[in-house]
Amino acid sequence: MIKKGIILAGGLGTRMSPLTKAVNKQLLPLFDKPLIFYPLSVLMLAGIKKILIIVNKGQLNQFRKILPEDNNLGISIEYKEQYRPGGLPQAFTIGEKFIGKDNVSLILGDNFFYGQSLTKILKSNINLKTGARIFIHPVKKPHLYGVASLDKNKKVINLVEKPKKTKSNLAVTGLYFFDNKVIEITKKLKPSKRGELEIIDLLNFYKRKNKLKAEFIGRGGSWLDTGSVNDFHDASNFISTIENRQGLKIACLEEIALKNNWIQNKHIKKAVNFYGNCDYSKYLKSLII
Ligand code: DAU
Repeated sequence: MIKKGIILAGGLGTRMSPLTKAVNKQLLPLFDKPLIFYPLSVLMLAGIKKILIIVNKGQLNQFRKILPEDNNLGISIEYKEQYRPGGLPQAFTIGEKFIGKDNVSLILGDNFFYGQSLTKILKSNINLKTGARIFIHPVKKPHLYGVASLDKNKKVINLVEKPKKTKSNLAVTGLYFFDNKVIEITKKLKPSKRGELEIIDLLNFYKRKNKLKAEFIGRGGSWLDTGSVNDFHDASNFISTIENRQGLKIACLEEIALKNNWIQNKHIKKAVNFYGNCDYSKYLKSLII
């Protein structure tokens, strides 16, 4: 069972400069909320209440302003700093104390997931006892991502990071479930040519031991990119289209916490005070009428 989740929210965000010169990418607006709300909402939908957020050195206070440890979400938030972006697996050594003896989920701070069956998919994988799980999704431009090839029985037979020539259209999304061995395995990894520890090397370790399973986020679900300014804009439009049509918000953290019975109406009122007079607060008020 996975009860802990790490959000990796560092990185230099150079591809989005000058937007990211003064503000961390994960704090930029994806339509009506900071980007980090979306990956956090995924962990909360999975039922994960213990969260570690890893941020760049010196940026802790920026994040604390919007997601304080003393929050109204009924979850525990801890922070750790990453000295320099040394690769995604660093999450497990930076988070070693937080993880302790438990299994853990990792989600990248810039990943957006949405879809009717999302919660079902998350809940059906959260019981992971041993091994690792990746979540894959078909994309038109797989060379921009980690790419997985599967055999007829949906077993992962090949995993490559951003290959020039792709054998499959299945991207490895930025959501991963791991058993506790992930810490020990990370410590054995060597930096790649680009000087970073690679998540694909970590996953291949599990694959070689026959301990890696892939789960589809099918075509009814969405996994959108926020890698470039254009992707950001497209994802924002997607969210605004759905929210304006339905009158329901995607990734309203307090709404998820309320539905999970982690908070009560009084916390919603506190959250309204916290955010002040804005559309998000109006939406929160509508949840408790
Ligand atoms: O989004 C899914 C993809 O994420 C996967 O398909 C790839 O296999 C995986 O390597 C990763 O690729 P990216 O090129 O998107 O990774 P990027 O370096 O952009 O980092 C993703 C997020 O993690 C971003 O929000 C910044 C943060 N990050 C990254 C690194 C390398 C950190 O906080 N610290 C780091 O050291």
